[in-house]
Amino acid sequence: MKKGFAISVAVILFSCFSMIGFCQQVDMGKLIEGQFKFAAQQYKVLNSHVPADSMPKSYYAKTNRSESSNTKWWCSGFFPGSLLYIYEQTKDQEILKIAKDRLAIQEKEKHYTGNHDLGFMMYCSFGNAYRLFKDEKDHKTIDTSAMSLITRYRPQIKSIQSWNKNQKFNCPVIIDNMMNLELLMWASAHGGDPKFREIAINHANSTLKNHYRADHSAYHVLDYDLETGAFTGRNHQGYNDASAWARGQAWGFYGFTMMYRFAKDPAYLKQAKDIAAFLLNHPNMPSDKIPFWDFNAPDIPNALRDASAASILASGLLELSQYSQGAEKQKYIEVAKQIIVGLSSDHYRAKAGENGGFLLMHSVGHLLGNSEIDVPLTYADYYFLEAMARYKKWVLKK
Ligand code: GLY
Repeated sequence: MKKGFAISVAVILFSCFSMIGFCQQVDMGKLIEGQFKFAAQQYKVLNSHVPADSMPKSYYAKTNRSESSNTKWWCSGFFPGSLLYIYEQTKDQEILKIAKDRLAIQEKEKHYTGNHDLGFMMYCSFGNAYRLFKDEKDHKTIDTSAMSLITRYRPQIKSIQSWNKNQKFNCPVIIDNMMNLELLMWASAHGGDPKFREIAINHANSTLKNHYRADHSAYHVLDYDLETGAFTGRNHQGYNDASAWARGQAWGFYGFTMMYRFAKDPAYLKQAKDIAAFLLNHPNMPSDKIPFWDFNAPDIPNALRDASAASILASGLLELSQYSQGAEKQKYIEVAKQIIVGLSSDHYRAKAGENGGFLLMHSVGHLLGNSEIDVPLTYADYYFLEAMARYKKWVLKK
């Protein structure tokens, strides 16, 4: 028994050290260039599986079935956004043409008010388009989208309502919503209505106050009573109400880091660092830093991993490294690098032409809802591409 334990410890230590050693040796410039070249070819395959009026959603290998969505689906902005990241790095004209075609079908959603996901839908797409091409039409699309998003602001609870009232929730506000604040903060910072920023800051402050537990993990959902302001912490996509759903933690982490970029409020920076510490020091964080779908999944270490949580975390860590110094900064960069290297390995990165044309395998949408389990997801790819672009710009300075 003791001998068996010693062998297991030796194997774990060996794997950790060989991963660290391997990471140190990787030529990140070459790796990133190779991943973007691959992405340019692979996303043409993905595009060929998606009807012209739709966006990709996922792919099911067992039945060789590609799934697409309409442009109201919360993930609709990731495909055009990913195409733009790929175009930016490769200058592939066919990719640009596909991106423009997909942006054209997405634009009408600037008027959508059915949920809180306008940031994902319209900023990941048109935000990137404006960043690259500075077309005033795209700027207007972003402004209109921000106006649509704030129709969901509920002053009584100083928060944006995520989903409409349903059988399960009265006024749900989910941690993912931190990501949609980027649309509002950017719009105000670029000549838009100052109330976008006020609302985003109110929402972030309510999230900081109400959504987090003492250990800096977040509930997925706060269900508010609009009359009294009382709320209950719940987990919709996590394992149970007390657990730490991995992607939710990553959304909150990225969201507070991004809010610090715009607002420069030290409370947001502290929150981002506290969440990073919760995640990186968690006893259930695997040594390759690609999280299990929930930090409290009962079948750890056999639980499914979630590549999407890893890519969001990597991209957020790279931004947080920009606001950090010394050993702390290096630590954030190293972990981001480790995740990028891990996701680029054969275990996560698909082979050419496979995986329905998506880049990454092994994400988890909503496990207990029996939906999107161990599949590719558009946002895993999007934040993987973003993390690599950020690594190239901020770490390699290219
Ligand atoms: N609710 C969005 C997500 O699955 O992360």
